[in-house]
Amino acid sequence: MAIREVRKIGDPILRKVSKPVKNFDEKLHILLDDMHETLAKCEGVGLAAPQVGILKRVFIIVFEDKKIEAVNPEIVSQKGSQTGQEGCLSIPEEWYDVTRPNKVTLKAFDRFGNEFSIKAEELLARAICHEYDHLDGILYVDKLEGAEKERRYEEGFIEE
Ligand code: CO
Repeated sequence: MAIREVRKIGDPILRKVSKPVKNFDEKLHILLDDMHETLAKCEGVGLAAPQVGILKRVFIIVFEDKKIEAVNPEIVSQKGSQTGQEGCLSIPEEWYDVTRPNKVTLKAFDRFGNEFSIKAEELLARAICHEYDHLDGILYVDKLEGAEKERRYEEGFIEE
């Protein structure tokens, strides 16, 4: 296992759309293991492959007693809304309120190519939406509205 470099906002790779995984092979397993080691070191909740420079549709979430590895994920349903604080390992030292669905159903494949689905709510639903967005080149600060958008501007964080 190895710790990989976490790409930061401004790095163009974070804006690219990731490609589906075709082979559930050793290379994917090494990527996932490295992502876990990197996430643990950064003390984050979730990490998506593009954040370590790999444009594959893969993310991980480690939250309370849950350890999710999602390959080729799809959010198949969403319900309600919640507003709460988010941060991102690619956007250090910033935290803002974002509105997300309150419940989501995620369908994905595990590292061996077995399909599974998860029903998530509240913080876990938020984390899934956040990580999923990374696979489409979307960062949570893109979603800021009103006062939170203004706050980011006033605090002098540079836009891309
Ligand atoms: Co993030």
